[in-house]
Amino acid sequence: MKNGKKTEGRRNPSTTRRSGRERKKISSQGPKEVSARNGASDARAAIVLAAGQGKRMKSALAKVLHPLAGVPMLFYVLDLVKQTEIQRTFVIVGHCAEQVSEAVSTWGVNCLLQDPPLGTGHAVLQAKDALAGFSGSVLILSGDTPLLRPETVRRLWEVHREERATMSLLTTRLTNPYGYGRVVRKKNGTIARIVEERDATPAERSIQEVNTGVYIIEAPFLFEALGEVQPNNQQKEYYLTDLIGIAARRGERLAGAEADPEEVIGVNSRADLATAEGHLRKRIAARWMAEGVTIIDPSQVRIDASVEIGRDVVIHPGVALEGKTRIGDACLLRACRIENSRLGEHVVVKDYSVIEDAEIESDAAIGPFAHLRSGTLLRRGAKVGNFVEIKKSELGEGSKANHLSYLGDAVIGKGVNIGAGTITCNYDGEKKHKTVIEDDVFIGSDTQLVAPVRVGAGALIAAGSTITQDVPPEALAISRTKQENKEGWVRKRRKKREG
Ligand code: UD1
Ligand code: CA
Repeated sequence: MKNGKKTEGRRNPSTTRRSGRERKKISSQGPKEVSARNGASDARAAIVLAAGQGKRMKSALAKVLHPLAGVPMLFYVLDLVKQTEIQRTFVIVGHCAEQVSEAVSTWGVNCLLQDPPLGTGHAVLQAKDALAGFSGSVLILSGDTPLLRPETVRRLWEVHREERATMSLLTTRLTNPYGYGRVVRKKNGTIARIVEERDATPAERSIQEVNTGVYIIEAPFLFEALGEVQPNNQQKEYYLTDLIGIAARRGERLAGAEADPEEVIGVNSRADLATAEGHLRKRIAARWMAEGVTIIDPSQVRIDASVEIGRDVVIHPGVALEGKTRIGDACLLRACRIENSRLGEHVVVKDYSVIEDAEIESDAAIGPFAHLRSGTLLRRGAKVGNFVEIKKSELGEGSKANHLSYLGDAVIGKGVNIGAGTITCNYDGEKKHKTVIEDDVFIGSDTQLVAPVRVGAGALIAAGSTITQDVPPEALAISRTKQENKEGWVRKRRKKREG
């Protein structure tokens, strides 16, 4: 189906519209480009602009690396490029270049340095040498427009091809177009140019049709016409948007497609970041509901883009799921925060619990008010209750720590009962030591286990004990001062006071 459509597209292909000079260029391309043209689609490259300073963010972090739903905003743009059949991708880096290059190092893209950043037109020019001899189409995207959907970009490709355009741009209509470049049209309705907010006349500012910063441009025109762009504007920058005026003046074919305003939000400030975050969160929640997850109030949950959730999971208000978290089928999550953790099936997490870098097997129950820290492993059916903190410890199958405990660097077997107020004293001020509690042990309330220490299978520790030595299997360990009852002591004291 997909291929059929593309083959059809190649019948009205760009080759027929190219001049002899351009065709010659195609045949002089290297083998890579030729094979790309012979493939399912025309040769396509993408340039992602990510060199700007992002002044309005007032941040030490590069603007395009600010996270949205837990993932740097630039990654959404790179993911979109990945989904739109593009052979080569260039990311233009400048401000915080090292930071940005490092962040995108696993994406299989080429970073090109723009130093100093002199505007969006100048940014694209940085790819001129890398794309020398390339005569296909170039998709240009901004790293700060993360909500764009692949379908919309595909639609723009279709329009570009159908209209045999030299340049196509994605526009939208905004009730408040402040800050965006306005699309100025001629009387006959064709696009004349783009004017930026700062350079616009009051009449132009009232135009609600805006430039989204997404373009498809034929490479030969792109790099040749960029040579004509001058920094004659308020910001003294080389504007990519000037290409529209140049194309219109030269009578080149200009095409356009309109996008949903929500998709093309450009993130320039922290307020824009929050707006984009809101939209993205809604999208993520909608996606999981469509997959069979109950979300009682989607406006009150935060689910990162990187999270996976099974069917019949029920998510109550106040839940935050972050990082590489995976929730198995039929878990019940009340208000809690879960980060980089895996939950099996039918796990119940009650209110105000925090789970970080932990693994929880099926049928476990957690909270309310539990804190499971890095390296926690709860085996099947284990139960952790109020005010229990666990770090780097395993709690065996069906074992329970229901109240007020600290378990650190401990390996706890099956069927163990950890009484209220149990503390593993794992730190001697210099080193951490291990506590081992074998299967079916009963630890009485208010016990301190001074590590390193081992409690043998089936042993019983009397409440209030301080355990400093290993306990043999099935032994009773008790370490506390003997109780003494002084008969009538209170009565005698009262009499003495009353005189
Ligand atoms: C730009 C468009 C505007 C459009 C808006 C849509 C221009 C001149 N204006 O404005 O018409 O409505 O996007 O969101 O293009 N960048 C570089 N190098 C630079 C300057 C910017 O790589 O020298 C990058 C930025 O990192 C950013 C993108 O280009 O990812 C857009 O730059 P930005 O300054 O945000 O442009 P806008 O003012 O939003
Ligand atoms: Ca922008």
